[in-house]
Amino acid sequence: MKIRCLLPSLALALAFTLGLSPLRAADGGKDPETELGKIMEKMGGTFRRLGRQIKDPSKNADSLQAVATLRDAAKSSLKHEPMLKAKQPASEQAAYVERFKKKMNDMIALLDQLETALKANDNEKAAAICAKVNDTQKEGHKEFKPAGKKKG
Ligand code: HEM
Repeated sequence: MKIRCLLPSLALALAFTLGLSPLRAADGGKDPETELGKIMEKMGGTFRRLGRQIKDPSKNADSLQAVATLRDAAKSSLKHEPMLKAKQPASEQAAYVERFKKKMNDMIALLDQLETALKANDNEKAAAICAKVNDTQKEGHKEFKPAGKKKG
C-alpha cells in the first residue's frame, strides 16, 4: 500500500487513541469521573456477583458479604450528590437531592431485608428482593444518572 493511502488510516487510528473519535464528540464527550461514580462502579461489580449466586444457598456466606459491601457503598453515596443536580433549575436542586437520598434509602432498606432473607437461608425470597433492588437501581438511574454513563 502506498504511504499516501496509509496516512488517513493512521490519522484516524491516532484520533481514536487520543479519544478524539467523532462518536465521542457526538454524545457530548465523556462525563468527568465523580466520587459518586467511583462508589457506583464498585457497587456494579458486587451486584453482578450477587445476582449470579443469589439462588445458591452454598454461596450465602459470600452473598452476605456482598450485601454488606453494597450497603456500606449505598450509605457512603448519601454523602455525595448526583452530577445531574447542576442541570436542574436552581429552585429545584434541593428537592432533586432529597429525592436522590430517599431512593437510596429505599435501596438500603431493601438490602436490610435481603440480609434477613439470606441469614434465614430463604433463597427464593432473597432472589425476589434482589429483583426489587434491581428495579430500584433502574428507577434511580432513570432520574439521577447521566444517560451516557455505564450500566449498573
Ligand atoms: C445495586 C444498585 C446499583 C448499582 C449496581 C449501580 C451502579 C452504577 C454504575 C456502574 C454507575 C456508572 C458509574 C460511572 O460510570 O461513573 C452508576 C452511576 C450512578 N448511579 Fe448507580 N447503581 C445502583 C443504584 C443506584 C441508585 C439506587 C441510585 C439513585 C438513588 C443511583 C444513582 C446513580 C447516579 C446519580 C450515578 C451517576 C454518578 C454521578 O452523578 O456522579 N444508583 N451506578
